[in-house]
Amino acid sequence: MKTNQIIQNYFDKNYFKKKKILITGASGVLGSKLAEVFLELGSDLILIDKKIKKSSNKNIRSLSVDFTKTEKLERILIKEKKIFKKIDFIINNAAYTGTNLNWIKPLNFQTYKDWRFAHKVNLDSIFIISKVLSKEIIKSRGKILNIGSIFSDLVPNFFNYKGTKMNSPAAYSISKNLLLQLTKWQASYFSPYVNVNMISPGGISRNQNKKFQKKYINSTPLQRMCKEEDIIFVVLFLLSNLSNYITGQNIIIDGGYSIL
Ligand SMILES: NC(=O)c1ccc[n+]([C@@H]2O[C@H](COP(=O)([O-])OP(=O)(O)OC[C@H]3O[C@@H](n4cnc5c(N)ncnc54)[C@H](O)[C@@H]3O)[C@@H](O)[C@H]2O)c1
Repeated sequence: MKTNQIIQNYFDKNYFKKKKILITGASGVLGSKLAEVFLELGSDLILIDKKIKKSSNKNIRSLSVDFTKTEKLERILIKEKKIFKKIDFIINNAAYTGTNLNWIKPLNFQTYKDWRFAHKVNLDSIFIISKVLSKEIIKSRGKILNIGSIFSDLVPNFFNYKGTKMNSPAAYSISKNLLLQLTKWQASYFSPYVNVNMISPGGISRNQNKKFQKKYINSTPLQRMCKEEDIIFVVLFLLSNLSNYITGQNIIIDGGYSIL
């Protein structure tokens, strides 16, 4: 490739225009920001979440689906793909997270139900989505991006939660770790047609308990928590042509937390 072509690709503002992007967890904090960015770039969006508002924008198709109902998710996707036909990128962002869930508890209070639900949302849904849309994503030579967490690889440092109401349930770390293996499996299976990667953000700054923030930041070489834009830049890179030779990788966005 000539130098001017490399530069042109880098600055190609129209790259995401008319690209059909499926984003799960699109009502969530990161999911809704990702949707906003891709809408601005002219993409057509399929936004999925447990509960999501219908949009009057013709470039958005919103689907409310509860991922703990795995068979229903599969049925809906089979029906829907006849409508949306092509798919370029899939961003698997939904997660059984702390918000609105009463599962952030010490181990003896963690329930098997939450363990299963976390696996269904954080892992099983990603298997189902890639399975149902496999032909379409191969046809468009698309890209899949799975969103993990630093706990895809590390385990929580429970010292950080001492003296706070915060905790980190086993099912969250374990399901995200299994997602890393699924990412590598998908990357191998879909090659050479579809790139599949994962990003693993560190703790995002969201008004957490001050004691926790202080300890977390002290253990982070870059001396701050993660921001949504730190993640969005990497998402744009991994869905763009700039990352065409990267597949099966887990990019850790943690300010260096994992190196200490
Ligand atoms: N917040 C952090 O500090 C942090 C750190 C590392 C990684 N992450 C990851 O980033 C991604 C986005 O996180 P966020 O902080 O924006 O979380 P969030 O809670 O704001 O968004 C997650 C979304 O997933 C959806 N979801 C949960 N259960 C579902 C179900 N049963 N069916 C369908 N959808 C369901 C929720 O409704 C929510 O909109 C997640 O994959 C999360 O694991 C977050």
